[in-house]
Amino acid sequence: MMAGTLCAVGVGTVMYLVANKPAKGSKKARKGRKTEGKKFIIGGNWKCETNCAKVDEIITRLNGIESIPDAIEIYCCPPFPHLATATIDLRADIAVSSQDCGVMEKYGAFTGDSFAGMLKDLGCEWALVGHSERRQYQKESSELVAAKAAAALKQGLGAVVCIGESKTEREGGLSVMKKVLLDDQMTALLKALGNDQSAWANVVIAYEPVWAIGTGLSATPAMAQETHKLIRDWVAAKIGPTTAANLRIQYGGSVKGATAKELAAQPDIDGFLVGGSSLKDDFLLIISEAEAGLKMR
Ligand code: PGA
Repeated sequence: MMAGTLCAVGVGTVMYLVANKPAKGSKKARKGRKTEGKKFIIGGNWKCETNCAKVDEIITRLNGIESIPDAIEIYCCPPFPHLATATIDLRADIAVSSQDCGVMEKYGAFTGDSFAGMLKDLGCEWALVGHSERRQYQKESSELVAAKAAAALKQGLGAVVCIGESKTEREGGLSVMKKVLLDDQMTALLKALGNDQSAWANVVIAYEPVWAIGTGLSATPAMAQETHKLIRDWVAAKIGPTTAANLRIQYGGSVKGATAKELAAQPDIDGFLVGGSSLKDDFLLIISEAEAGLKMR
């Protein structure tokens, strides 16, 4: 029988269709998430952009990286249907993240949802939650996003929590920015996690101004630095200076190889969340330019 073909098999009087699947790859022990030290963290958010061929192309590109710079940690967020391919085929020193996760605390009758423990079992090391596209299209509230982050942490995943303001909010000035980013998005997270340092040690904040996502309009390094500092100062005041100093805050929004160096040179930018460019060769340039930017500090 040929591998992968469907054939009819008779059992008594009943006929079953049996898939003779090709041999399954073994699931590697993944070790892409670095909890010790404060590595610059670069995530590739593949969004809903990849078919099987594209996933193979991206994985081949990443697996071909000769060596990942010591100061840098990388993760990828494939769409849900491609998570298993990534956890099996992607090199083990690049972590895999889901693009969302459920709030439930166990396996069960939750059709269409993804229990964080299931993602962990699959080999994921991170769950990305609260991306602005989910806040916008799925109407996810900051409370729901925070509950998802807590559910991910409870199952041993790291949580990448996205926050960000719209164009109108940015134009509203500092008081509006503070209201959105701090009083709403960060406060909801603080309410869900409390000031438990061990929980915050497994959290990454991805600051992504909504007006910069997929638009080619990146925040300038100075604008990003200023907002990251605002977030870190708030964490220092509400949770504590050690948590604030250790917290990694990624910048996201049209990061490209051409802009990565200057952004990475900013003292409060601890990583990138990359959308469009994570599907292309440019992602490799982002990694090397980030390394060069870190050396400029
Ligand atoms: P972009 O997307 O890099 O295409 O702007 C970033 C993101 O949405 O995570």
